[in-house]
Amino acid sequence: MATKLSVNINKIATLRNSRGGNNPDVVQAAINCQRFGADGITVHPRPDERHIRYSDVREINKIITTEFNIEGNPKEDKFVSLVLEIKPSQVTLVPDDPGQLTSNHGWDTVKAQNYLRNIIEVFKKEGIRVSIFVDPVESIVAAAGDTGTDRVELYTEDYARIYLKNKEEAVAAYVKAAASASLHGLGINAGHDLDMDNLAFFKQSIPALLEVSIGHALISDAIYYGLENVIQMYKRKL
Ligand code: PXP
Repeated sequence: MATKLSVNINKIATLRNSRGGNNPDVVQAAINCQRFGADGITVHPRPDERHIRYSDVREINKIITTEFNIEGNPKEDKFVSLVLEIKPSQVTLVPDDPGQLTSNHGWDTVKAQNYLRNIIEVFKKEGIRVSIFVDPVESIVAAAGDTGTDRVELYTEDYARIYLKNKEEAVAAYVKAAASASLHGLGINAGHDLDMDNLAFFKQSIPALLEVSIGHALISDAIYYGLENVIQMYKRKL
């Protein structure tokens, strides 16, 4: 099965924001990612707009020709309104706190079951595919099956960390979580800390993987190899 590569361009906005002005231009970066073969663009607007701004999301929406994935915490009303306005291909719901450096945990789908079911319905009514960010725990993935979500995004930070010592050990929980997702009729996405080294083994271990969203490592690699090369290199890993 082909796995889509969605490029998270938040880091490009972070670089732009460090100087003011519009260099680098995130809209042009999104256009380029698509031209160079990315299957999608991911953005993660946070309430303080320290990376991607809400206005960027609106501008990128005008040029999107691939899949647009908007990530964020639906507890922010502003985020929900933005997603309902844009109607992207996919919304990925992430339980991050407003000031968090980066996402560092998935939903507790057991405790938040009713909350998730209600909010997921709001997006699905508008025809937006929904994915929820989860840790690779079978019971959590099983409970995601009762929320109405279309997909889960497996949080791969642990995989990336343990991969450096033992790749089989690193992927074991993810293989089980993926089997649970398939059993419950859920599509499988993955993201966080995936990179040029660890991506291929993750994909080989989980053939049903539908999409990865990659930001930090891919944009960093682009400094050395250029964006076009890097997108093609990551696609070959998939
Ligand atoms: N998925 C989610 C939910 C994220 O929050 C992030 C980081 O913003 C990613 C994927 C991408 O992680 P990375 O930047 O490490 O590739």
